Amino acid sequence: MEIKDTYIANALRYAASTSMYRRCGRSGILLPKVSLGFWHNFGATDPAERSRDIMRCAFDNGITHFDLANNYGPPYGSAEETFGKLMQSDFRPYRDEMFISTKAGYDMWEGPYGNWGSRKYLIASIDQSLRRMKLDYVDLFYSHRYDPETPLEETLQAIVDIVRSGKALYAGISRWPLDALRTAHEYLSRHDVPLLIYQGRLNLTDRAPQKEGIIDFCADNGIGFISFSPLAQGLLTDRYLKNIPDNSRMSREKTLTSDKLTPKFLNYLDKLKSVAEKRGESIAQTALAWILAQHGVTSTLVGASSTEQLMRNISCIHSSPFTTQELEILETF
Ligand SMILES: NC(=O)c1ccc[n+]([C@@H]2O[C@H](COP(=O)([O-])OP(=O)(O)OC[C@H]3O[C@@H](n4cnc5c(N)ncnc54)[C@H](OP(=O)(O)O)[C@@H]3O)[C@@H](O)[C@H]2O)c1
Repeated sequence: MEIKDTYIANALRYAASTSMYRRCGRSGILLPKVSLGFWHNFGATDPAERSRDIMRCAFDNGITHFDLANNYGPPYGSAEETFGKLMQSDFRPYRDEMFISTKAGYDMWEGPYGNWGSRKYLIASIDQSLRRMKLDYVDLFYSHRYDPETPLEETLQAIVDIVRSGKALYAGISRWPLDALRTAHEYLSRHDVPLLIYQGRLNLTDRAPQKEGIIDFCADNGIGFISFSPLAQGLLTDRYLKNIPDNSRMSREKTLTSDKLTPKFLNYLDKLKSVAEKRGESIAQTALAWILAQHGVTSTLVGASSTEQLMRNISCIHSSPFTTQELEILETF
């Protein structure tokens, strides 16, 4: 991938700062209400200029948090490589304005040491990630998922050691069940590496972290919460109102399949659309604004395949509060 032309960040990128940033739990860190994820649209198979434009657009509009994982691509590792190239070509002067996360926990390389939660895997993985991303350290390192077979203390001690070694500044976990979250919070606090944030899927059609008590636990214990797939991978937008467009995630990727377009879902999407229209918003804007209105939520972690989508998503920070009537309709799925 060759990236040309010099990037100079928008001088007004922090103009909306009072409405853009929220404190992450009980910590010194402010995160943007809208953060950018690199799961899709940044792999080696995606057009390099488009990836560059999306990342530039994000930073130019006050997005300071960029979320990666070792296996984002495709192929695995290539989103971190794209990020590394952009870091070198565009973002090096802005490193201290950026909050960059990566993760390990899913399958990454072959054999018994490239998956789940062992110390062996996590420590090798952060070193690989730093090389690909061309960074000396990440701001946040996550265990990407709960491993039922590795002792939690082994995974947690590896995270403590990664932070102590200076390869990451803060610790996070993603997709851990409530009991394991409790253990993580206690273990990490005891080792003076407090859990900064929990990453879980929260959107209008999936409220599991609320129902399971995860968000309340985070809020009660000074831990931030960031929601991934806030648009249900594009379902909670205008993308699939009429058909499955050729260039959409559903037509291209295995992570989003057409069996999600059930009559129940399409009926709900109609209702969501009418609420959004009455508010003068896009469906995506309303769906994201709902997440930001939830108790305990620090940030929402969007994906975007164009700068236009990203701009529409960022506008959720300006949404007005929901009425009780709107909430009654929105929370029916
Ligand atoms: N911790 C975990 O296990 C985990 C799991 C999943 C995701 N994540 C993180 O969360 C991030 C976001 O996840 P996600 O990509 O699933 O998020 P999402 O925001 O729910 O979905 C993003 C996709 O929706 C479509 N879209 C976005 N904005 C749109 C708009 N305004 N109008 C129409 N369509 C729009 C685009 O798909 P098209 O390609 O169809 O345009 C876009 O790629 C990831 O990048 C990753 O960092 C973490």
